[in-house]
This record gives sequence, structure tokens and C-alpha cells, in this order.
Amino acid sequence: MYSKEELLNGLKTSVVGTKMFVFESIDSTNACAKTLAETGIEEGSVVFSDYQTQGRGRLGRSWLSQREKNLLFSCILRPPLLKDQTGLLTFYAAVSIARALETFTKLKVDCKWPNDILLNGKKCCGILLENSFGKEQLDYSIVGVGINVNQREFQDDLLSHATSISRELGKEVDRKKLFQTILRELDLLYDDVRNGRFSRIFLEWNNRCSMFGSTVTVAREGTTLIGKALGLNSDGGLVIETPNGKEIVYAGDVTVISV
Ligand code: BTN
Repeated sequence: MYSKEELLNGLKTSVVGTKMFVFESIDSTNACAKTLAETGIEEGSVVFSDYQTQGRGRLGRSWLSQREKNLLFSCILRPPLLKDQTGLLTFYAAVSIARALETFTKLKVDCKWPNDILLNGKKCCGILLENSFGKEQLDYSIVGVGINVNQREFQDDLLSHATSISRELGKEVDRKKLFQTILRELDLLYDDVRNGRFSRIFLEWNNRCSMFGSTVTVAREGTTLIGKALGLNSDGGLVIETPNGKEIVYAGDVTVISV
């Protein structure tokens, strides 16, 4: 297990990771970060754990991860954003992580809407944002990140679309170094977020996303939409051209069915 001192040693950031809470096992780093945020803890605080008993995924799913193999952490941020800008935080997190993974692996890293990171077309990282709002503004956002790093085995039903960094590289990876690289990228890009400057982030995310122009299905709440993925609208929704006209979706699972 990593100690807090080890994870902080050599970390050069000004906001992200300035306070660190490290656990051997926890229910969910997002749940813990939320409790800390409610007590008013400063932004940039990070909760890290080597194992989760109730890891949360998107759309009410669980996030499973082998003990001491991967990266599981949540960061508390308090950027002064209006409610309708907060959907863009997911692109900030994805681009920061994609940059870090690219530096680290030298592989091409793709982003998939809404918040997955892919290596060689398979998901190696999921991001779960949980926001809390004041009257008009964001109060805090929990940026929860799960990265498959050194885990080699996956359930049979996941193998076709899930992977880990070590599976793609064919060797083990230094989790601490990767963690610090990610915190550094989150920190570097955070200035743009605090100032509401999302255009650079948006552009990079778009360049890393290969599904635009393809026919996709979007599964959401019991219904499935089929159409051409046209791009993102200004608040991060996915614009789909369906036989009945354009639709914008904000949640769901996208599958590309023809390019
Ligand atoms: C997804 O469904 O793709 C998002 C998964 C996010 C998982 C991470 S692991 C660390 C943090 N704590 C949680 O309980 N969930 C997020």
C-alpha cells in the first residue's frame, strides 16, 4: 500500500493534490470525497484508495477493480462555474487524463463520449463526476477516476471492450508515477476551467474522439436511439441526426455500428 508521503513525494502541483487522503480500502473514493466536500474542505483535495468495496460507475453501475493493481481516486474541485457550464468538466478531466496516459504509454489515447478513455479501442479508464450546486453556481464537483493499470484479468463479458495499460503495453506500470502525472495534467489545465475557458479543452477532446460522422446507437433509460453522431453542442451534449430530426443526449451508452 502507498503511504500519503510516498504519493506526495515529488508531486509538483499548485491546486490538485495539495491535500491527500490515502486508504488501503474504502467503500468509494467518490463517497468519501463528497463527505469531505460537505464539510467545506478546500478544493484540490484528493482521496486515493487501493481498493473499493462499493466503487461507483456511471448510470448506477458498480466499478470493479482488483486490489493494489489500479488507480482509484477522487478530486474535489470548486471552480466558479454556472450550472449549465458544469457538464464541460467531464471534458477537462478526460483531456487531462488522456494527455497523461499518452505521455506515459506513448500510445494514442482516444476519448469516447461522454467520459471514457480508450487504448487501442478498449476502455481503460472511466470518469464519474458528481456535482453539488448552490443557487446558480456549482458548489463543488467530485471528479472520480478509475484507471485499469496493472490488472491483467477481466470478466469474460468485459474482455471485448475493457483493457488495462499493462495489457496494452505488455509490462507493468509504476502506478505512483502515473498518478502524479495525471494530477499534474489536471492541475495544469485547471486554470482554464477556473476562468471558464473551455474552447481549448473542447477542441482537444473533439480531436481525440473518432465517432463523429459514424452511425451510432445510444442506449438510455430503456430506449435506444439510432442515428449519425454529428458532434457536441456547446454544453457537451451529443448531437445525433435521427430519422426524426436532430436530438441531443446528455447520458447513455454509445456504440458505433458503422463508420
Ligand atoms: C464509469 O462508469 O465509467 C465511471 C467509473 C468511475 C470509477 C471511479 S473509481 C474512483 C471513483 N470512486 C468511485 O466510486 N467511482 C470513481
